[in-house]
Amino acid sequence: MSSFLTLLIGFTCFANVHGIYRWEELPVDGTTTVFYVFGSEAIYIVDPENKTVQSTIGADGVCTPRRTGISDLIYYLILHFSLSVFIAQVVETVATEEMPYDLYYLPWLEEVWVHAWSNSTFDVIDVSGNLEKTHKAIKAHITPGWTHGFMVANKEIEDGKVGYVTHFRNPGLHQLDLTTKSYKDFHNISDQGCHGTFYLAYSSLNKHTFVECFRATFILEMDLTKKQVIRKWSFTGKPFASPDGRFIVALYKSINRTTSQLLDSKVHVLRISENGPTSLLPTPDIPLGVSQLAFDKKAGQQSGYVAYISLLYSDKIAVLDLAKLESGRAALSYIEGVGFVQTIPFSPGMSRPLFVSGRWLVSPASANNSVAIIDTSTVKLHGMVPGVVKGQAVLAVSLPPTSSPPSPTAGAEGKLRFNGILTLVMLLAPYILHGR
Ligand SMILES: *[C@@H]1O[C@H](CO)[C@@H](O)[C@H](O)[C@H]1NC(C)=O
Ligand SMILES: *[C@@H]1O[C@H](CO)[C@@H](O)[C@H](O)[C@H]1NC(C)=O
Ligand SMILES: *[C@@H]1O[C@H](CO)[C@@H](O)[C@H](O)[C@H]1NC(C)=O
Ligand SMILES: *[C@@H]1O[C@H](CO)[C@@H](O)[C@H](O)[C@H]1NC(C)=O
Ligand SMILES: *[C@@H]1O[C@H](CO)[C@@H](O)[C@H](O)[C@H]1NC(C)=O
Repeated sequence: MSSFLTLLIGFTCFANVHGIYRWEELPVDGTTTVFYVFGSEAIYIVDPENKTVQSTIGADGVCTPRRTGISDLIYYLILHFSLSVFIAQVVETVATEEMPYDLYYLPWLEEVWVHAWSNSTFDVIDVSGNLEKTHKAIKAHITPGWTHGFMVANKEIEDGKVGYVTHFRNPGLHQLDLTTKSYKDFHNISDQGCHGTFYLAYSSLNKHTFVECFRATFILEMDLTKKQVIRKWSFTGKPFASPDGRFIVALYKSINRTTSQLLDSKVHVLRISENGPTSLLPTPDIPLGVSQLAFDKKAGQQSGYVAYISLLYSDKIAVLDLAKLESGRAALSYIEGVGFVQTIPFSPGMSRPLFVSGRWLVSPASANNSVAIIDTSTVKLHGMVPGVVKGQAVLAVSLPPTSSPPSPTAGAEGKLRFNGILTLVMLLAPYILHGR
């Protein structure tokens, strides 16, 4: 076990975080939430309320500087968290194609689809019982080769039978048949001036998907089911859809890779209506290097969302109140004193993760070797937790009120543990795994 753990911690050094979170299911009533912060030297278990590192899971010397080349990475790990004893334990190792970059949990199929970037293919892992790889190397490309790309798949999109996959070198979207686990079709949108596709977000309100074209200056609003481009929006960035589908928030930044100097940073917000056209909301400038985004319900209110946006070149977190933005009021505020992240030249994956669960938002400040805890009920800094060395990814783990030790057999226990696994699965999605 310890060698796997070492491997796991090693992997986290190369974390590259994308937001596929399922935090809305957490926490369950009566549970306590702690945060696992994956740092360069250990996994730190942070108690948000008391602002302390409760314990660490670590091993010496596991984080060596990033090696060049990715050829030796092969494995994707699915972990089991033993909730009562605070120990991470590997229960399954599932071999995938090389460079497993992202994974997607499709609850209606009880499957996890692993996107390998080496050739743009998917492997399918059945998670209904014991974890079992059922299909491998389903293509999502025109010709095999290195990709950057992402998938949207949703139970609402064509009854959950089709997944849409972007590819930064292919001028459109690949369709996968999620039922037969096979390649379906390519939707070519090169007539839009789109030479490659990149980030995408789906609005559950108007059922449109917002697709960023690679190195282009626009985003396409599309009805994928009808293969229609609804509108070409003349801005770009990584789009995020609010949980209610009413807003698409696109974060754009440009950095000089040689000097790691910030060149540009912008946010665009689209307001979606169920039947009417989408509109662009006037949005204040957020100039300090917009990085990651987490939505949260407005404190103490039934409706309305705020977007917390981390910044690479500031010790602030931006808070954008989407309801205020919509009604034309002052919508932007900042939470100050949250520490800094490291900005290293030639490091394209630079980001500042944010993670919300229940009352707390947690965001590591890697340059300060600490973690900021924000109380979302007051939208204020609750405090900094010192002693977390170069924190990157974060996940929340809910601990049951009474700790009955779960057994390590997959599929045998209750929902809480299952959620624990799924949350982990989601969070491991982003890791670029480097083998021994
Ligand atoms: C936080 O600190 C208080 C007082 O020191 C203690 O009673 C409580 O158990 C701590 N909470 C946790 C989750 O450790
Ligand atoms: C990618 O596809 C090519 C052609 O099918 C194959 O030869 C190669 O081994 C694949 N590479 C990986 C890393 O799977
Ligand atoms: C996409 O469409 C363009 C224009 O019709 C065509 O030149 C190109 O070959 C097509 N690419 C693919 C991969 O289908
Ligand atoms: C990035 O910085 C380098 C060094 O100052 C400079 O030579 C280069 O032109 C800059 N590139 C851009 C795109 O600004
Ligand atoms: C982070 O580090 C900087 C530079 O050392 C320091 O000025 C700042 O006060 C620190 N911030 C926090 C929140 O610890």
